[in-house]
Amino acid sequence: MTISEGTRDQLQELVARYPRPRSALMPMLHLMQSLEDEVTPEGISACAEMAGVSPAEATAVASFYTMYKRRPVGKHHIGVCVNTLCGLLGGDAVYEALSERLGVGHDQPTSDGDFWLERIECQAACTHAPVMTVDWEYMDDVTPSSAVDVIDRLQRGETVHSTRGPVIRGFRATEHTLAFPEDGLAAEGTPVDDKMLAGLRIAKERGMSAPAAGQEG
Ligand code: FES
Repeated sequence: MTISEGTRDQLQELVARYPRPRSALMPMLHLMQSLEDEVTPEGISACAEMAGVSPAEATAVASFYTMYKRRPVGKHHIGVCVNTLCGLLGGDAVYEALSERLGVGHDQPTSDGDFWLERIECQAACTHAPVMTVDWEYMDDVTPSSAVDVIDRLQRGETVHSTRGPVIRGFRATEHTLAFPEDGLAAEGTPVDDKMLAGLRIAKERGMSAPAAGQEG
């Protein structure tokens, strides 16, 4: 991929947001993924140059974090949490159903370039386990059949919403937001519900509070 002047301008805009250029490396890599569904060697070199690090250092970051892909993800990234709580409550079955439906295994793209399936770690959404993500938007309390239904609807080109409200916009759009968070969508949907606040409510009802620092136990 040839890095255009427009892309270089956006990379420079990211560099200008941080005290040190190297601090912009991760958002820069997300920007590259928003353009090509992956981080290519050319993209990594451009990010390294703008961040003032070596290509080897930038490659180390791009290969360490699993959110960066070295092959094209395609239209939609599908994540299924299989950590302890989600796995026990059905996440493994959800993953198996999606793997069979899509015909791919962990960290693989479908041949038509529409989906990428991945087993993912805890998304800090255990209250609604088992959890699946579509382009990193939550699908709470999924079942094997509801997860497959999401794939069917996306494949038919229907508008699909996260169970928390936001519309599924596609992998590239999400990656752009991870580079430039000001997408105006922060207030969209319902990020917190009664189930998530139940522990806090009960603690308040019972007058419970966290011990002061240094007084644990
Ligand atoms: S274990 Fe799945 S979201 Fe926490």
